[in-house]
Amino acid sequence: MNILLIGGGGREHALALKLSESKLCSQIFIAPGNPGTAQIGTNVDILVNDFESQKTFCINNKIEMVVVGPEDPLVNGIYNFFQQDSLKHIHVIGPSQHGAQLEGSKAFAKEFMMKMNIPTASYREFNNQSSVDSKQLAENSQLTTNNYQQGIEYIKNHTLPIVLKADGLAAGKGVVIAETHDEALQAFKEMLQENKFGSAGSKVVIEEFLTGIECSVFVLTDGENYCLLPTAKDYKRIGEGDKGLNTGGMGAISPVPFADEIFMQKVISRIVEPTIKGLQQEKIIYKGFVFIGLIKVNDEPFVIEYNCRMGDPETEVVMPRLESDLVELLLKLKNNELAGAECKLSTKHAATVMLVSGGYPEDFEKGQLMTGFENCENSILFHAGTKQTSDGIVTNGGRVLAITSLADDLQTALKTSKANAEKIQYKGKYYRKDIGWEF
Ligand code: AMP
Ligand code: GLY
Repeated sequence: MNILLIGGGGREHALALKLSESKLCSQIFIAPGNPGTAQIGTNVDILVNDFESQKTFCINNKIEMVVVGPEDPLVNGIYNFFQQDSLKHIHVIGPSQHGAQLEGSKAFAKEFMMKMNIPTASYREFNNQSSVDSKQLAENSQLTTNNYQQGIEYIKNHTLPIVLKADGLAAGKGVVIAETHDEALQAFKEMLQENKFGSAGSKVVIEEFLTGIECSVFVLTDGENYCLLPTAKDYKRIGEGDKGLNTGGMGAISPVPFADEIFMQKVISRIVEPTIKGLQQEKIIYKGFVFIGLIKVNDEPFVIEYNCRMGDPETEVVMPRLESDLVELLLKLKNNELAGAECKLSTKHAATVMLVSGGYPEDFEKGQLMTGFENCENSILFHAGTKQTSDGIVTNGGRVLAITSLADDLQTALKTSKANAEKIQYKGKYYRKDIGWEF
């Protein structure tokens, strides 16, 4: 079958590789793709939110499956768009717009977790209205959103640190962990009154700070049944020792050593199964990946966030460890046939090290010529932010290249990725040398 993959980062390069390895895949197109995906399939110059152009392309190229990489088109309703008559036969991998709210609205996700009794940090939700008085609030238990003034009082009485989250998509920047009440009040004001995150900040979730170690669990679901993909841990901070600004992710490992069988049993029974049951209970159509960001607090798992797609760079360690045919698994989502399907996982360890542009996640220069690809051995080089020019491949983003290695143990995988990171050259190259430092 012909497949269209939406997106153009390292995650999509890893997905494209895995999809293309399937015996069921005839042709793979990637919109818009990157120089890495161009080595696997055909890049198509269509943006991720241009549903009309995607429609025309799908019809003209007999596409039977659309795999959606990033969250934006999912939150914008790509699944629902493809339900129209001329596209109905195309199998879209991803949640409906309703399901994508698990990532698209922090308030929606928190409410869902409360309803399903899924362990997460305690919270309250605030908006910018001043018209809801406290009497009305007390009388109407349905009214979960509290107003701005109440938020200020809530913050003043909250233990430190305080976690503030802009409700909507904010490109990973919508979370503030405030160490003082003043800092929290300032962030609250910026989100709700100064529109720092635009409409994404029109509601704010304030929640309890949880202390622990994070990891991510990836679930493939048809909305009724599920199978677990490999666990992964990403390293979000720019600096070694997990210091400095947050990034999209500077590296990842899989499996996560502390996510042992006892922990995973808790994750399955308290989080994964109630999540799938919740989708059914709420009649949410969901045929895709659920990325559950977890924190382990005293051996107990809590949900930090849901994402409605795979992670980046987590996909770059998860997909290389999946031994089953991905297209075969994805086909089972359409008619809810995932029950009993086997997600066969490799026992090998995977590690990815992300090369980034100097200055990232703040200002950085693009267009630096990259060399040394041919010198790398025993790693997969997933292109994240690169561009093909007549001079060669140049940098074209903050995160440039994810170098993934597989080995019998984590340290060997890390060593291989780091050795190859040294062989790639471009002006301003930076990467963290301490990915996997805790293990
Ligand atoms: P998110 O955008 O929801 O993934 O949050 C970004 C990061 O903020 C997470 O990866 C955590 O490191 C941190 N974080 C979010 N919520 C909490 C919380 N309730 N307690 C502690 N850390 C948190
Ligand atoms: N690496 C985190 C994410 O994809 O959201």
